[in-house]
Amino acid sequence: MATDKKKSNVPIWELIDLVQQHAQRILYYGPPGTGKTFRALRQESAKQAKAQPVYAITITPEMPAAELRGHYIPVGGNFEWKDGPAILAWRNGGRLVINEIDHATGDVLSFLHNLLDDPEFAVMTLPTGETVRPAKGFQVIATMNGEPRDLPEALRSRFPVTIEITQPNPEAIAALPEDLRNAARGSCVADKEEARINLRRWYEYANLRKVIGEQHAAQAVFGARASAVLTSLKVASAPSA
Ligand SMILES: Nc1ncnc2c1ncn2[C@@H]1O[C@H](COP(=O)(O)OP(=O)(O)OP(=O)(O)O)[C@@H](O)[C@H]1O
Ligand SMILES: [Mg+2]
Repeated sequence: MATDKKKSNVPIWELIDLVQQHAQRILYYGPPGTGKTFRALRQESAKQAKAQPVYAITITPEMPAAELRGHYIPVGGNFEWKDGPAILAWRNGGRLVINEIDHATGDVLSFLHNLLDDPEFAVMTLPTGETVRPAKGFQVIATMNGEPRDLPEALRSRFPVTIEITQPNPEAIAALPEDLRNAARGSCVADKEEARINLRRWYEYANLRKVIGEQHAAQAVFGARASAVLTSLKVASAPSA
């Protein structure tokens, strides 16, 4: 199921609450700092948190598949096998959060194809000779800043639920002081990349201004745009005539 922001009537973050409880392979994409990873890591209920351990990994272009799958480690004079987060998630029916999945290259790509096969028939034989399959409850939530078309088709096709994140998580906005919320909501997903101010900056500004004051905090966080940002905040908070 792919969502289309023009056709969808369900607010994106409500949809996410639903699909995270029921879909097995989910991909989120969109601008940085909108709350994708935060939401992927947080389970929907205490019951789910108990039943489904969460594993997380961030892909880098140089990463070998062994970091996801597992590898031998020297212990005393011997070598022992240590599962990586992907195989742990398979064995324990866990949620595997894969950040920056579009950075995958080489053997990680092939590994992901196998890992994300339909769970009914997915199977992998480890270098130990052991054959493993995904346990009930195994789920993958991947995130990225690029576009799904950046992914090789075979990987893209393994995410039947692909959601474009066009707005910040309302809970993340609510965590900001009230006077910053409107500005943060719009600026963190501005169409033009150079116009964006992501939530991390807004949080830092909110923290810093408490201790070093608005002017210094704005200069530290917004740089050359400091006075423009302060002016627009003042205009927005001025009582309307
Ligand atoms: N529900 C929330 N409540 C409070 N803070 C939040 C919430 N969601 C996100 N945040 C905060 O917003 C910031 C951005 O969140 P997060 O790292 O999840 O974004 P992202 O979309 O994964 O970004 P990127 O694409 O750069 O990885 C973080 O500082 C995070 O702690
Ligand atoms: Mg992230």
